[in-house]
Amino acid sequence: RVDCHPQPGASQESCEARGCTWCTTDVPNAPWCFFPEDSPYGYSLGGNAEKTDKGWSKLTVSPSVCHRWDSPLVDLFFSNQYLQITTAVPSTSVYGFGEHEHVSFKHSMDFVTYGMYSRDQAPTPNANLYGVHPFYMCVEDDSNAHGVLLLNSNAQDVSLSPNPSLTFRTIGGILDFYVFLGPTPENVVQQYTEAIGRPHMPAYWSLGFQLSRWGYGSIDVLKETVNRMHHYDIPYDVQHLDIDYMERRLDFTYDKENFAGLPEYLQELRKAGMHNVIILDPFISKDEEPGTYKPYDLGEEMGVWVNNSDGVTPAVGEAWPPGHSVFPDYTNPRTVEWWTQLCLEFKNVLDYDGIWIDMNEPSNFLRGQFPGCADNDINNPPYIPSISDRSLAQKTLCPDSKTYLGEHYNTHSLFGWSQTEPTFHAAQQATGKRAFVLSRSTFVGSGKHGGHWLGDNFSQWKDMHYSIIGMLEFNLFGMPYIGADICGFNYNTTYELCLRWMQLGSFYPFSRNHNEQDPAFFGEEFAKISRATLRIRYSLLPYLYTLFYESHVHGNTVGYKVPSAWRGTYATVDAPLNKIPLFIRGGYILPEQAPATTTTKSRLNPFGLIVALNEQGEASGSLFWDDGDSIGESGPPL
Ligand code: NOJ
Repeated sequence: RVDCHPQPGASQESCEARGCTWCTTDVPNAPWCFFPEDSPYGYSLGGNAEKTDKGWSKLTVSPSVCHRWDSPLVDLFFSNQYLQITTAVPSTSVYGFGEHEHVSFKHSMDFVTYGMYSRDQAPTPNANLYGVHPFYMCVEDDSNAHGVLLLNSNAQDVSLSPNPSLTFRTIGGILDFYVFLGPTPENVVQQYTEAIGRPHMPAYWSLGFQLSRWGYGSIDVLKETVNRMHHYDIPYDVQHLDIDYMERRLDFTYDKENFAGLPEYLQELRKAGMHNVIILDPFISKDEEPGTYKPYDLGEEMGVWVNNSDGVTPAVGEAWPPGHSVFPDYTNPRTVEWWTQLCLEFKNVLDYDGIWIDMNEPSNFLRGQFPGCADNDINNPPYIPSISDRSLAQKTLCPDSKTYLGEHYNTHSLFGWSQTEPTFHAAQQATGKRAFVLSRSTFVGSGKHGGHWLGDNFSQWKDMHYSIIGMLEFNLFGMPYIGADICGFNYNTTYELCLRWMQLGSFYPFSRNHNEQDPAFFGEEFAKISRATLRIRYSLLPYLYTLFYESHVHGNTVGYKVPSAWRGTYATVDAPLNKIPLFIRGGYILPEQAPATTTTKSRLNPFGLIVALNEQGEASGSLFWDDGDSIGESGPPL
């Protein structure tokens, strides 16, 4: 059954009025209104098509009624604001599509629909979240794998059906499909990242443990937190500064009252071998006194904002800064100039090493900008894909807003992606070192310039579980620098959950606690256990760094490897609260280095090798090593 009435509210009458078949069923989620076998709609595939042993070649597509072609592709629709295509898949082992909180890595094919449209939305199973990745991998029954990308930035959804098939629906753009033939899952990701851009090479320090919190509120609380981490000797490389470091949440300022002495303190941390990351939001207050807030005054002069539908007046919304804000349009080269200048100048104020770009879906606390969205087909298209609130404007700008690259309707989900590359270059220019950019909104290819965390998760056991699935998926999407907020973000955590999460998070590729309960918060015993697991992470960092190098150069995944000697056995092992069971694959050699409290120090320590033999008594491995943060000739290939 291919759904003939994907929008809510289907009835027998509305279904039959479309010439479709209405038949109720007990099968959960199965459509009751579906295309009849001899559907008169859509396009037929045929012409001089030739069947080959790999499928069909020379397919031609012709509109409307002729007999249906018995092909792997059925039902193509190509109309204004509605494109749909169904494709058969050779097995039900389908992975990917994002960004969502998926409850299993392998998808259920029981009539599940995923919407894709970037949105400021805390992870909730199946809801459309911060980024858009219309990419899936299918592992066939003979274990050969292939991947498919639909390169399309419009609001869209995909339905997974048990026959098994996939139905893509998008409300704009073109049906631009790319197929990656594998044959192994790892090959698929290598081929995919060859096409969309290999993941960037992270600085060595950014593989160290990181601490963050929204709400230190003052430099004294920040210092207390840092001190207690040091008191317990917990390995820790990076301190993040969330929006409370700013003066009234204004980008490119710092709070000189509550965070008096912050520039000097960042220098102190740097002397201790640590690194600093600052947050920046993509909204600029327009309500400061003229001449007192350069980011707005300069941006206004340069004309860098997203505009209303008239293409001239800036879109005005409401976000963190007091009053009203405008939104930089990063698809505009002038905005890139403006942003780069501000990032470079701010480096002289706060000596940062990396930039965390948040809220770039783009988020707006209203439904569209002031005064609300006009009632037209762009803001309210005939079909709205299966996304939260079935609204394209909720928590963001009106779709008929104008960006340099085109209508927001088409570019909305590219906002975070378009901010990532200029921020990467600005950070690289400002620091003279390898850039660190952490972005909440991502799109196909974002991994080339940035990493990602899985957003505002909840302090719940299930969220800890789903974080593993999210990390595997972002590896498929070519963004292996990925982690989740350790201990959770929303709700209050508990001692046991937070401790288990510290243990698991010690092995996230991007390992950051962004919670009021940092690893030194719960006292001696908790700190001791966190310290022990983080020391294992630190001793294995040469291995993790090598995996990132392989990913940067060959497009490999980081952090998940299925041993080719895999026999699928189950074992029950003890996991008392002070231990996380870790296993090493037979046949591999892992380079290691004695741990220390920062990577600056651990990089000076002696190396070792962990050799785990396979059943034939053999093992192999590799090591990539350099100074850890250079770019250009002394760094890894760009
Ligand atoms: C939303 C981000 O997802 C979260 O990590 C951050 O703490 C808040 N914005 C405040 O900046």
